[in-house]
Amino acid sequence: DRRIKIAPSILSADFADFGREIGAIEAEGADWVHVDVMDGHFVPNLTFGPPAVKAFRPHVTTFMDVHLMIAPVDPYIEAYAEAGADMITAHVEAGPHPHRTLQAIRATGKKAGISLNPGTPAEAVAYLLDLCDMVLVMTVNPGFGGQKFIHSQIGKIERLRAMIGDRPIHIQVDGGVDPVTAPLVAAAGADVLVAGSAVFKGGSVADPAPYGANMRAI
Ligand code: DX5
Ligand code: ZN
Repeated sequence: DRRIKIAPSILSADFADFGREIGAIEAEGADWVHVDVMDGHFVPNLTFGPPAVKAFRPHVTTFMDVHLMIAPVDPYIEAYAEAGADMITAHVEAGPHPHRTLQAIRATGKKAGISLNPGTPAEAVAYLLDLCDMVLVMTVNPGFGGQKFIHSQIGKIERLRAMIGDRPIHIQVDGGVDPVTAPLVAAAGADVLVAGSAVFKGGSVADPAPYGANMRAI
């Protein structure tokens, strides 16, 4: 299914009101809900532990993809699986054994994703693709919402699309996706677009459909 899916990142949502925010983006057409987990070590920011993800779970009726920006990652896979992730994505840079990490994710019964920082070449996942349901191409350096899209990553998306061929593996893009960059990454071969600030900023709660309008723009 190569239809383009939008996965709003709740990193840009109102942190005092996740239940309402998730309900609103789903009502207005979000395909997935993207949860950014940061550890203050692999990336210079801190966000959601497993109890937070568990609290989001009952509000998500679509598909919750959990993007783990943590190192080490293996000791926490089961906890995020039990918290209710539908897909768990780990970074190829998180340790020396991403192949083992993907096996561990698969062993929980969840979908498995592998993510690439902007400085990491597409070839880093060549021997991991058969264990993946998704490759995530970071188009900003991970850690914060609202950063500028790094255009050099377009070539990486095209390269991955060629490497994947007709295997059923999603290409997700995360960072600086907005109405200008979304068509570029879709044309390069991405099919799941994460968007934080483009969805959540600019709308207002008073507006009857703030997120829907922003998602349609993407
Ligand atoms: C960045 C996160 C992203 C971020 C995207 O480290 O992985 O998911 O929330 O935010 P925008 O869309 O604002 O770049
Ligand atoms: Zn993310």
